[in-house]
Amino acid sequence: MKGLGNLAAKYNLPVQSHLDENVDEITRVKKIHPSHSDYTSVYDAYGLLTNRSIMAHVVYPTEDERQLIKRRGAGVSHCPNSNFNLRSGVAKVRQMLNEGLKLSLGTDASAGYATSILNAIRTGYFAAISRSIEHPTEKYLKLAEMFYIATLGGADVLGMKDIIGNFVIGKQFDGLIIDPLSNNSPIDLFDHDDITSIFEKFINNGDDRNIVQVYVDGKFIHGSYMNHS
Ligand SMILES: *[C@@H]1O[C@H](CO)[C@@H](O)[C@H](O)[C@H]1NC(C)=O
Repeated sequence: MKGLGNLAAKYNLPVQSHLDENVDEITRVKKIHPSHSDYTSVYDAYGLLTNRSIMAHVVYPTEDERQLIKRRGAGVSHCPNSNFNLRSGVAKVRQMLNEGLKLSLGTDASAGYATSILNAIRTGYFAAISRSIEHPTEKYLKLAEMFYIATLGGADVLGMKDIIGNFVIGKQFDGLIIDPLSNNSPIDLFDHDDITSIFEKFINNGDDRNIVQVYVDGKFIHGSYMNHS
């Protein structure tokens, strides 16, 4: 681990690992590294907790650990589909967001069953809801907050928020053109649907049938043109 930390420092490399994924793992790290106060401190001691680190899961961080993650500017990759499938636990996403940690969404396929970011948003939303059922003082996340984590939050965790992550002028245009009324669309629209409810319908019910064009860095790379106006 010291060697890896030295390499990361020498070449300013990103670091990716797991942190606080499940109770057994935390117990095992404690057993292997008894002199460190917690799991996060172990990475930190070896120079592996930097502002280029992306830590997956982070289901059980203590307050000290959350503060340390924040101080170092490390990012968290929340992987709800995996956390549910492996029964790891439900991450405190609302709390980490409120405390100003950098949060992104991960799939962790194959422990998770889906690579779709829409699936990650939906399972993340359920994770936040199930936390708030168990802990009524914790408000669950709004869909807009899940969308933030899925987009600009991810860019932030990658250290790329000045380049990608939203549609601010000057950034690379990574975009999907969504047609809620495409052929065989799984979405029904009603006259009273406004842009927000159409957006929510796509996030909750939409799929690749609605994605009519894909742009990466401003280039049209996939899809067709709108078939209705
Ligand atoms: C990340 O940490 C390095 C080294 O401490 C520092 O030079 C750099 O400014 C930091 N970058 C950000 C985006 O905080």
